[in-house]
Amino acid sequence: MQPLAFVQLVQTELEQVEDLLAAQADGYHQDLQAALRHLLQAGGKRLRPVVALLMGRLLTAPIDRLIILAAALEMLHTATLVHDDLIDGALLRRGIPTLNARWSPAATVLTGDFLFARAAKLATDTGSLHVMDLFTRTLAVIVDGEIRQLFEGGAYTTLEQYERRIYAKTASMFELATAAAASLAGYPPDHGPYETARRYGYHIGMAFQIIDDILDYVGDSRHVGKPVGNDLRNGLITLPALYYLEEHPDDPDLRFVLEEGNLFDEARLQALVERIRSSGAIARAAEQARAHVAQALAALEALPASPEREALAELARYVTERTF
Ligand code: IPE
Ligand code: IPE
Ligand code: MG
Ligand code: MG
Repeated sequence: MQPLAFVQLVQTELEQVEDLLAAQADGYHQDLQAALRHLLQAGGKRLRPVVALLMGRLLTAPIDRLIILAAALEMLHTATLVHDDLIDGALLRRGIPTLNARWSPAATVLTGDFLFARAAKLATDTGSLHVMDLFTRTLAVIVDGEIRQLFEGGAYTTLEQYERRIYAKTASMFELATAAAASLAGYPPDHGPYETARRYGYHIGMAFQIIDDILDYVGDSRHVGKPVGNDLRNGLITLPALYYLEEHPDDPDLRFVLEEGNLFDEARLQALVERIRSSGAIARAAEQARAHVAQALAALEALPASPEREALAELARYVTERTF
């Protein structure tokens, strides 16, 4: 896979992040070591570490602590994915089998727990109490969002519920990445460069998840590296379905999903996916993602012009253009 242009600026740091991640199971049970190797070798875009490294460099945070922060973020992300794939019954991630595809739920849960613990350890190693505080609060938000999705995933989702859910499960971690980077650079919370950095992270995170939800309708599983077309199958109402519903409030199959949380007839499900795919809902959702990117770009304007800022702008634009 061709490295993305905005990654090049932090390639050296990213290699150090990779080494740090790879060492996180050293001295522990061989199966934990094997699981971590399996997860890391599968790749992944490493977007959260890249965002933190670029923002941290832009705001001149100390590089050694920034590298630890970047590793902590990727470890937290990986831990959430391990549990998420178990919860979702997903068998493919980053183009290879998930842990739960091969291991028992018990072993998968424990491996996830181990990764959460190592993420917490790395967050501690940044030496910042504020960064640790951000980590623990973000993890609580993510879990809160996942449980919300579990219990109210389909039935009559409002736009407000949808936004709250994607903030919790995705944007909160991007926000964590940029806010923690600003914090390591010495900026106090809630105003000035810290608030600007946080806002950038929030908006690219929201855009990122909207695009993820669009890719579930229009993506190619071979590029995306995970199953597509699954949200509706699991009764999960995302932005494309919400917009489609606004235009077609009487679609009997979508109503069925809303009422029953599921559409067991695969042919009817596929036909519904196709109707949503060929409606204006996809373009409208993409427009919404682009609006978030525009706000991320606007936030960047308040930060000093530099190659890092340009790379962050490029990254924001990439979020809406990505196909995996
Ligand atoms: C997957 O995130 C989970 C979501 C929040 C959609 P990524 O698409 O960043 O996953 P990797 O790390 O590149 O595999
Ligand atoms: C993943 O959520 C985000 C978290 C792990 C919190 P999803 O279930 O929507 O994402 P994918 O499609 O499995 O990557
Ligand atoms: Mg999930
Ligand atoms: Mg999932």
